[in-house]
Amino acid sequence: MADIAIVGAGFVGLINAVGLAELGHHVAVIEADENKVESLSRDRMPVYEPDLQDLWQAHRKAGTIHITASYTEALADRQFCFIAVGTPAGLDGVPDLRNFYAAVDTIVAAASNPLTIVIKSTVPVGTAEQVQARMALPKNGSRNAAPVVSNPEFLSEGRGVSDFFHPDRIIIGSDSREVGGDVAQLYAATGVPEVFCDNRTAEMIKYVSNAFLATKISLINEIAWICEHLKVDVNGVAAAVGMDNRIGPAFLRAGLGWGGSCFPKDLTALSRMASQAGVSHDVLDAVATTNHRQPRMLVDQVKDLLGTLDGKTIGVLGLSFKPGTNDLRDSPSISLTTRLQTEGCIIRAYDPKAMDDAAGVLSGVTFCASAYETARGCDAVVLATDWPEFKELDLKKLGSLMKQPVFLDGRNMFDPQEASDAGLIYSGVGRGHSARLGRIDRQSVHP
Ligand code: UDX
Repeated sequence: MADIAIVGAGFVGLINAVGLAELGHHVAVIEADENKVESLSRDRMPVYEPDLQDLWQAHRKAGTIHITASYTEALADRQFCFIAVGTPAGLDGVPDLRNFYAAVDTIVAAASNPLTIVIKSTVPVGTAEQVQARMALPKNGSRNAAPVVSNPEFLSEGRGVSDFFHPDRIIIGSDSREVGGDVAQLYAATGVPEVFCDNRTAEMIKYVSNAFLATKISLINEIAWICEHLKVDVNGVAAAVGMDNRIGPAFLRAGLGWGGSCFPKDLTALSRMASQAGVSHDVLDAVATTNHRQPRMLVDQVKDLLGTLDGKTIGVLGLSFKPGTNDLRDSPSISLTTRLQTEGCIIRAYDPKAMDDAAGVLSGVTFCASAYETARGCDAVVLATDWPEFKELDLKKLGSLMKQPVFLDGRNMFDPQEASDAGLIYSGVGRGHSARLGRIDRQSVHP
């Protein structure tokens, strides 16, 4: 059992806190925002994440977790201090490390005993070395000369707690095998394989993992539009292509594109690192460009189906960047919605978890209590986030509430034939639907 401090009570910090507490460690979470400290000390979570609140509450009650604003108090007698503060994209796309370095400096000033710093935040290659230099450590190769471990997280929002316990691997980047081993030991109870490497490699692994995943999605999205024109259903293609072990089935779901707090900023940061090193990054640029195009392609599809967008009422189902979270950061659904508004559309919208947050991001939108309520009187409905509850929708009922049953499946959740049988005029992303369902009769769609 170890005594661990974690700086940052966001998604990453809180999940690591409950995860490490579940593994038997004592955890102190340090958070600068007094409002967050106050809420968390009453077990109110700043983010929605399955199981997080229950585990937090249980460990707080048991005394194995506590939250504080004081570094001095939290660091007293701790062996490890994890840094899990946000590293958002700065104006030029280079990660803004101000909060990160502020945390480092405060840790160094407040620590009263030898401490291993564990970097969870996603930071550019070379950052751990900078942290080490900032700590003004002896350069004698002794244990205390390398107490900075790069231990990137691969937590996916909406399943963060589960991901903590069942990652594919744990990356331990350290210039000292001994210090790295101490950090690896914290996770021993998970039984997950560890990869030991140096700090720079660990930092790079994080960026490359996200770049690969985003690339798979952008590639299948580009393929989708090719499929559309060649009258092929991309879902069937992706399923069979993904059966090839060299490719794998994950991250091949075509749709509105990727968003969230990681892919966009990490891809940009990797491109910036390449630029700074004088290396070209054409593939990374294309991956981002293809992704930005997706919402526009969907808007064009709606326009194509309705003839014009001005004055049309469109229902948007799903606002978060993916299901299982209320996170709206870089959500393709928000981009789609604002584009539709720019084209003169009247928007009705529903999301199972993100409505409160969406009200602060979108203006002029009628937020509805359900998917059916959203569809009422619409000229078209666009499914923008693949929440599982949408899969249960009675499509016949949905269509009957609309002015005209035009349904754009921005996440390819439904079988085109099934949707068509339910009376919907269905269009997906690269389903080649017009080949099998017959060309949409535009006269029956336009008013
Ligand atoms: C991602 C990484 O998965 C995680 O390892 C890292 O730590 C943080 O970034 P997350 O942002 O939570 O996690 O989302 P993820 O589930 O990876 O999805 C990212 C985006 O891609 C979402 O917008 C999702 O809708 C989209 N996506 C995903 C697709 O469009 N198609 C797919 O096949 C998979």
